[in-house]
Amino acid sequence: MDPGDLVLRGGRILDPAAGKPLDTVGDLRISAGRIVEIGRVLDPQRGRVIDITDLWLVPGLIDLHVHLREPGQEYKEDIETGTRAAAAGGFTTICCMPNTKPVNDQRTVTEVIVRRAREVGIVRVRPIGAISQNLEGKALADIADMKEGGIVAISDDGRPVMNAGLMRRAYEYARTFDLPVVQHAEDLDLSEGGSMNEGAVSTRIGIRGQPACAESAMVARDLEIVEWTGARYHVAHVSTARTVALVRDAKRRGLPVTCEVTPHHLVLTDEACSHYDTRTKVMPPLRTLADQEALLEGLIDGTIDCIATDHAPHSPVEKDVEFECAAPGMLGLETALPLILDFVRMGTLDEKRAIIALTGGPARAFGLPGGTLAVGSVADLCVIDPERPFTIDSEHLASKSKNTPFLGQTLAGRAVLTIVEGKVVFDLDGRLR
Ligand code: DOR
Ligand code: ZN
Repeated sequence: MDPGDLVLRGGRILDPAAGKPLDTVGDLRISAGRIVEIGRVLDPQRGRVIDITDLWLVPGLIDLHVHLREPGQEYKEDIETGTRAAAAGGFTTICCMPNTKPVNDQRTVTEVIVRRAREVGIVRVRPIGAISQNLEGKALADIADMKEGGIVAISDDGRPVMNAGLMRRAYEYARTFDLPVVQHAEDLDLSEGGSMNEGAVSTRIGIRGQPACAESAMVARDLEIVEWTGARYHVAHVSTARTVALVRDAKRRGLPVTCEVTPHHLVLTDEACSHYDTRTKVMPPLRTLADQEALLEGLIDGTIDCIATDHAPHSPVEKDVEFECAAPGMLGLETALPLILDFVRMGTLDEKRAIIALTGGPARAFGLPGGTLAVGSVADLCVIDPERPFTIDSEHLASKSKNTPFLGQTLAGRAVLTIVEGKVVFDLDGRLR
């Protein structure tokens, strides 16, 4: 027996994205970091057994949109705390945005991130490189060199690429290197520094808003350029009904378009901003009920490919200030799965669709490995207790920052075991002790 062999016993094995979708109760064996066998009852002599009766065993979750803040803003988060938070949330692969200090707009920065993540060794970290130098939207970053360093996509996230000509050249480059271009879709001339969604709530509470069309106008422009140039286009954190409609239509026309939605845009509306709680300030802003319904519909019908957290840690320095001065962003890695499982429990979202949106969906959007439990694939896994009560409290969050409006809430369902390449990186109940 290989001492590294592990048998996960008696779980509900769920792999909706596999060539042959799987939903069965049984055992799964891991050897040398790979899934080597799935069956009803596997020989317990061959490997260490972990009992996961009544729990779900799914592919490790994949998050395409995380802000790790290292290098440069380690007082908010660093690669170690961020990846620990990811593991606690059930994620085995995360993609980190380039708006660090310095910006990840060149290979040296990409390599620092990759190296540090390897040293820490918790979950897989795949960096996203900047589209433009220093996110300034003026000149292209060195995309070819960053690709050599290990980036999996390009984005100026946090800011849109306003210059259409630059965006065109970015697509042309990205097409050459087969990299998706991720747009933070916001027309800055329309959003004009608005701190929340423009609508009845912003008028009532007297906060300057930004209209929904600030997002969809940018997506419409981008789709025209994609049609002209080709290139894989991915819309980050889709928040409006119009954007969902545009992406649906683009997919129907066969354009290479994918998109993501955050758990917070699915769960909250601009009503959550009524009390000026800066933890509800995010970009794009929380929208209306009609938008929220369209997002859910888009997720259900596959227009929206995946759920991504936009995990955006901030300290009290950025958040304990007036709403209009506060930095946008909230934590996501540790709350995503419980929030999505809530939709499953309510019957609003099919459990298979939820799992695909957190695993195979993101893997396909960026062309990443993983997102399946097929025999022979790398053993990146997540064990979920779908009923486990989970109170979000600041003391128990692995993240360095605590900026989430869900603090104090008790949700149900969470990851209890996270395994990366056969190695247990999160073990809530000490099953392996
Ligand atoms: O809410 C957000 N926070 N949206 C972004 O686009 C950037 C992010 C951040 O970096 O804090
Ligand atoms: Zn963004």
